[in-house]
Amino acid sequence: MKCVFITGAGAGIGQETARLFAKKGWFVGLYDRDEGAVKKLADEIGSKQAIFGKLDVTDVDGWKKSLADFFDQTSQLDLLINNAGVLYSGAFENITIQQHKQIIDINVQGVINGCHSAFPYLQTTPHSRVINISSASAIYGQPDIATYSASKFAIRGLTEALDNEWKVQGIRVVDIMPLFVKTAMVTDMKAASFRKMGAKLTPNDVALAIYRVTKEKTPATHTPVGLSTRLLYTVSGFAPDRLNHWLNGLLSK
Ligand SMILES: NC(=O)c1ccc[n+]([C@@H]2O[C@H](COP(=O)([O-])OP(=O)(O)OC[C@H]3O[C@@H](n4cnc5c(N)ncnc54)[C@H](O)[C@@H]3O)[C@@H](O)[C@H]2O)c1
Repeated sequence: MKCVFITGAGAGIGQETARLFAKKGWFVGLYDRDEGAVKKLADEIGSKQAIFGKLDVTDVDGWKKSLADFFDQTSQLDLLINNAGVLYSGAFENITIQQHKQIIDINVQGVINGCHSAFPYLQTTPHSRVINISSASAIYGQPDIATYSASKFAIRGLTEALDNEWKVQGIRVVDIMPLFVKTAMVTDMKAASFRKMGAKLTPNDVALAIYRVTKEKTPATHTPVGLSTRLLYTVSGFAPDRLNHWLNGLLSK
C-alpha cells in the first residue's frame, strides 16, 4: 500500500485530495493545525487507512514528531503533499505586516520545513515524490495578492531547484498550479482578478490533477490546472515581458 503525508488536510483541496487517495487505496497521513477537522476525516476514512495529527507547518519539532509517528506505522513515505497555505488579499498596504509575515511563514517556510524534515524518509523510500501546491499566481505577480503570489513564486523556485538537486537520491519534486478554487480560502477574496475570473475549479479537480501526477512516470516539474491556467502558463513561456505585464494588468484591472 502506498503512503502519503498531507498537510492542510482538514479542509478544501487537502481534504478532497486525502479522500481521493484513500479511495484509490493509499494509506493517508492527515495533518493540519485544526486537529478536530483531521480527526473527523480520519474517522470517515477509517483507521486501517488513515492516521491523523495536529501539525502547524511552521513548527519544525512538530514536523519531526508527526513524520516519526507516520513512519512508525508505515515504514515508507511515497509522497509528501505540501498543501497547507493561507492567503490575505486586498491592497498591499492594507494587509498588516503580521499577515504578510504569516503568508511567508506558512506558505514558504512551512514547505521548506516539510521538505527538510521529510528528506530522510523520502530518501529511504524508492521512487518517492514531493508535490508542492503552488498556484497560477506563480506565473506572473498578481496585484491584491502580492505577497501570496510572491510566496508561490518561492515555491516554484524551490520545486525546480530540489527536483534537480534530489535527482541523485531518486526523489522527484514537482508542483501543481491551480487558478482560483472553490474553497474557504477565496470566500473573502479582495482581488480584481478574482472578481473577473471567479473560481471555476473545485477541490476535486485539483485532487484529480495531483493524483494524475502520481500516475505519470516522468511528470513535468510544473502542472498548471484548468484551461485558463494552462493557457496563461503557455503564453508566459514565450511572450515578451511587456506582453505578459500588459495581459496580467488587463486581467487584474
Ligand atoms: N483556493 C484557491 O483558489 C487556491 C488556488 C491555488 C492554490 N491554492 C493553494 O492550495 C492549498 C490549499 O488551499 P485551500 O484552498 O484548500 O485552502 P483552505 O483554506 O480551504 O484549507 C487550508 C487548510 O490548511 C490548513 N492550514 C492553514 N495554515 C496551516 C498551518 N500553519 N499548519 C497546518 N495547517 C494549516 C487550514 O487549517 C486548512 O485546513 C494552499 O497552499 C493554497 O495556497 C489554493
